Amino acid sequence: NRGIACLAALSETHQILQKTCREFANAELAPKARHHDREELYPAEQVRRLGELGLMSVTVREEYGGSGLDYQAYAIGMEEVARGDAAVSIVMGTVECLLNNLYLGAVQQHGTEQQKQDFLVPYTQGEHIAFYALSEPGNGSDAGAASTTAKLQGDSYQINGTKAWISNSKEASGGIVFATVDKSLKHKGITAFLTPKDVPGLSIAKKESKMGMRATSTCQLMLEDVQVPRSRVLGAPGDGFKIAMQSLDCGRIGIAAQATGIAQAALELAVDYSQKRVAFGKQLARLQLIQQKLADMATRVEISRLLTWRAAWLMDNGLPITKEAAMAKLHASEAATFCAHQCIQILGGMGYTTDLPAELYYRNARVTEIYEGTSEIQRIVIANAVLRELGR
Ligand code: CAA
Ligand code: FAD
Repeated sequence: NRGIACLAALSETHQILQKTCREFANAELAPKARHHDREELYPAEQVRRLGELGLMSVTVREEYGGSGLDYQAYAIGMEEVARGDAAVSIVMGTVECLLNNLYLGAVQQHGTEQQKQDFLVPYTQGEHIAFYALSEPGNGSDAGAASTTAKLQGDSYQINGTKAWISNSKEASGGIVFATVDKSLKHKGITAFLTPKDVPGLSIAKKESKMGMRATSTCQLMLEDVQVPRSRVLGAPGDGFKIAMQSLDCGRIGIAAQATGIAQAALELAVDYSQKRVAFGKQLARLQLIQQKLADMATRVEISRLLTWRAAWLMDNGLPITKEAAMAKLHASEAATFCAHQCIQILGGMGYTTDLPAELYYRNARVTEIYEGTSEIQRIVIANAVLRELGR
């Protein structure tokens, strides 16, 4: 029974990981989060420490320099890191997305041994970070409509186009670019290319000025006659859309965990403040309308965590996750925005200032409803699955 098995108590390894990550987040992430956000500073030192703790490659096998743990461990680590600083958890999630591409899929392993040596091993320790370039200025949700082109000339593809909203792209050393080898084939022309960032023709254009997650860069990538050898095609030409969808299925578990971490942080701040602040001669926490908010927040946090852990458990057991990961991402992201919103309300005027992190939680939460597939896209994925499962 899928549902019951994933509710079993955390293993000792998971409990130790959770405690280690929580202590690390309290000591080294949360105290710097608002400074990094305000100054739009990339958290290089924190990412390096994530690498030391094995959190930049949780699910990568040890032979490639990873921690060799499971997706449940990844979800636990992401939640705790995001609880401390959600922007740092984006770096962790994006790198995991690249690593997943080399590992996962119907063919089990898309990446060749050489590709793994070049694009897996260097990214496992936090020294190098990666980008994942799927979206374009003209198409985000409709990922199959990619207009970046890849033309085979001799033994290399020549790539031209613009990728948009690419996380980490300013600091990254390399990553994955999706481009079409034949636009008339629609999604069946999309191909995944591994490329270092430091190659002729690849440049960073506009850096977005964002509402939240300001400590990480989000930029446009310009590709002008970028040469990528055939040996750097991941899978086969035309496999790219499926590779992207499979890695987004896993990525959505990560964003669900990230959102759960933000919601948990908002809940903890709201509880703390409501017990310190007095109104009408009582702690806020004794007022039943405030208790209602705390109860609704706590319930949504726990539903988010359970859905996320269930999706991770399915992944760890080799079962389909598309619907379950979408449900976890949908619920957890909307719960994070809800909890951060309620946290601001419970803090009153203090919630609206930058003296306390409630407003940061809100700004960071909001994007979890947008990236790795908007809430509307998650609902489409879930509805399609439900119609297949239950429809005529
Ligand atoms: N796994 C494997 N294959 C899949 C799949 C999955 N989860 N989902 C779809 N496919 C396959 C289908 O089986 C189908 O295969 P055939 O061609 O063999 O029939 C093919 O892909 C096309 O499927 P659809 O017709 O369902 O595709 P669609 O064009 O209607 O799009 C979509 C489906 C779900 C809307 C998809 O486009 C999507 O997920 N869009 C959102 C994009 C997104 O999430 N972008 C995130 C970018 S990364 C980011 O934000 C942040 C970050 O990394 C840090
Ligand atoms: P659109 O697709 O134009 O959608 C606009 C609105 O229309 C949304 O509300 C959407 O839900 C709705 N909509 C679209 N289609 C439908 C439909 N069929 N039915 C109902 N409603 C629909 N992308 C990457 O590839 N790599 C990254 O690293 C990355 N990082 C990001 C970081 C940040 C901070 C942000 C903001 C975005 C990032 N993205 C990244 C891009 C992100 O995945 C897209 O923004 C997202 O998929 C939505 O695409 P869009 O912005 O083009 O919106």
